[in-house]
Amino acid sequence: IRQKTLFDIYKSYKNNEPLSVITAHDFITGKIADKTPNLDIVLVGDSLSMVAKGHQSTLELEFDDFYYSTKSVINSINEKFIIVDLPFGSFEESIEQCTKNAIKLMKLGKIGSIKIEGSYEIKDKIINLTNAGIPITGHIGLQPQKFNIFGGFKYQGKNALNALEIFKQAKFLENLGVKLIVLECIPEKLSDFITKNLNIPTIGIGAGNKTSGQVLVMADALGMNDSKNAKFVKQYLDFYSLSIDSLTNYSNDVKLRSFPESIKHTYPMNDEEFKEFE
Ligand code: KIV
Ligand code: NA
Repeated sequence: IRQKTLFDIYKSYKNNEPLSVITAHDFITGKIADKTPNLDIVLVGDSLSMVAKGHQSTLELEFDDFYYSTKSVINSINEKFIIVDLPFGSFEESIEQCTKNAIKLMKLGKIGSIKIEGSYEIKDKIINLTNAGIPITGHIGLQPQKFNIFGGFKYQGKNALNALEIFKQAKFLENLGVKLIVLECIPEKLSDFITKNLNIPTIGIGAGNKTSGQVLVMADALGMNDSKNAKFVKQYLDFYSLSIDSLTNYSNDVKLRSFPESIKHTYPMNDEEFKEFE
């Protein structure tokens, strides 16, 4: 199967087929995503700052660490459309900094779009990247890189004025030539309205069921952490508990000398050879 292109993503969008998106943060999680038959898009999100690096937020993530992780994910992907985040600190300084880091990521290959949080304040950067031939994914609503300004990880667009502001940002991004928009933590009514009034796909997280697609962080969806998931997450597996149970069984086997088993897991040597050796 050839890798999905932006054209394929738009074909699904035009056919009203919801787009399914999952994050990956290393070679193993990337491979799992790549081999999930009906999944469309893999996002290398800066949520890997918490999920894979153990930080408190996305702000602590260093570009070089993110770049290295992105490379590992990309090594595992052959079939899915890939979107990669621009992490905090990799684009704010200048158009030059933004373009340099986006191009550095694109040079890893296989990447279909670069995602960047924000709207008006990154206008020139988005135009520059688009002119360079990089399809841009927007990200509005809750913007985790700005949680200090937002006053925490709160859902956005609750009141009419704030909802209008988010709608304006979505239209602004569409008019700039952005190809997809992530809507994070906004009411379903608002994301429905935005989706109906745009001609580009919206990908929701904590934004209800009316967007063009959904995205979840794989570690949340598969229960890879012991931390409590947000309200909007559906957990499909308890990987964390199952892993600890399985490793407990392994460790018991070692202590009881029931692993490894003599023929099944063990290399042979015939008796004559061993006698000669002794
Ligand atoms: O970093 C990430 O995982 C994201 C998604 C939550 C949209 O940006
Ligand atoms: Na992100």
